[in-house]
Amino acid sequence: MELFIPCAAGVEASVKRQLHALGYGNCPAFEGRVRVEGDWADVARLNVFLRAGERVLLSVGHFPARTFDELFEGVFALPWEEFLTPHAQILLNGKCRKSALMAVKSSGGVVKKAILKRLREKLGTRTFDEKGERAVVDFSIFEDAVTLSLDTTGEGLHRRGYRVLTYDAPLRETTAAAMIESAYFREGRPFADLFCGSGTIPIEAALIAKNVAPGIERSFDFTRWKCAPDLLPRIREEARAGERPAKSKIYAADISARAVEIARFHAERAGVKDCITFEVADARNFKSAEKGGVLVSNPPYGERLESSDLFGLYRDFGRVFRTLEGWNCAFLSSYGQAERAFGRADRKRALKNAGLDCTLYSYYPSAK
Ligand SMILES: C[S@@+](CC[C@H](N)C(=O)[O-])C[C@H]1O[C@@H](n2cnc3c(N)ncnc32)[C@H](O)[C@@H]1O
Repeated sequence: MELFIPCAAGVEASVKRQLHALGYGNCPAFEGRVRVEGDWADVARLNVFLRAGERVLLSVGHFPARTFDELFEGVFALPWEEFLTPHAQILLNGKCRKSALMAVKSSGGVVKKAILKRLREKLGTRTFDEKGERAVVDFSIFEDAVTLSLDTTGEGLHRRGYRVLTYDAPLRETTAAAMIESAYFREGRPFADLFCGSGTIPIEAALIAKNVAPGIERSFDFTRWKCAPDLLPRIREEARAGERPAKSKIYAADISARAVEIARFHAERAGVKDCITFEVADARNFKSAEKGGVLVSNPPYGERLESSDLFGLYRDFGRVFRTLEGWNCAFLSSYGQAERAFGRADRKRALKNAGLDCTLYSYYPSAK
């Protein structure tokens, strides 16, 4: 089977590296999607293990189309009856780019009509009550090439389940995981987030340190599909067998006592409270005698959070970082003066966060 893993722009490299580590080789990435070949066990495995990917799509087919008629015929020719029952609740999610067909809503209507016609003919169904399993059909029309997939995941993979409260401007769990990966955090290295907010970054770091699969506790749409074998229990067992106690010392702080309280609560829900030290503290006062650590943070941007002296905060954050021996740093920000204030980055990567154009600034002085 052909599987696609959509991810936020700028995160493809992190997804590819994790796939490589999971044994999937060098998977190609294209237009915000990474392509993997696999079977139903891989569908379950990827949903449970992926840290930075947003979902796992199962490709049903692709074909060229420039008109609604061609779209209808192409969709109708695909074997939907192998995946869907007459009771499936068929929902659509699509995007059209650089194509003759650019109307997402009308294209979605054509896609659904063609699927229902196919099911009517192949399964002999007359009525569709849509009271059964949820099946989100993902269609992408890019440069007149249509790709149709079924979304095996359901709610996005960033919904690990541990985060239920929000403090100002929380980060997506998948973005946090990609940031940590890009800073070369490895189990055993000290780790710190000095602006932890609701705790997303340190919790994701702790899950990595303990080798806890991020999707282990949650459910996925494919488990309710008749066509999918019941492999999730085996994959969960496989994941549990790989869990280990954390050796890394993980430190999380925020200037707000409420944020730290929320972060602690989330860490408890995620089962990682034991390996994170929380503190209410100003990032500007951080010191550590530990060597070779990793600092990953999401400081305030100024757009959504007020800060009287944003430039000064980033400048002091940079100074704090330079006191740490052999540490790497990655921070995400949309603040235009971030690099000028903090110091020149070794690498910059554009990343979207909550609709804002952000940059992930990375510093690797230990590699120099
Ligand atoms: C963008 S939010 C972090 C969101 C977090 N990554 C999450 O997922 O919830 C920035 C955080 O920086 C904190 N903050 C602002 N100034 C600070 C300072 N001087 N020291 C430490 N934390 C500070 C704010 O309280 C806020 O929680």
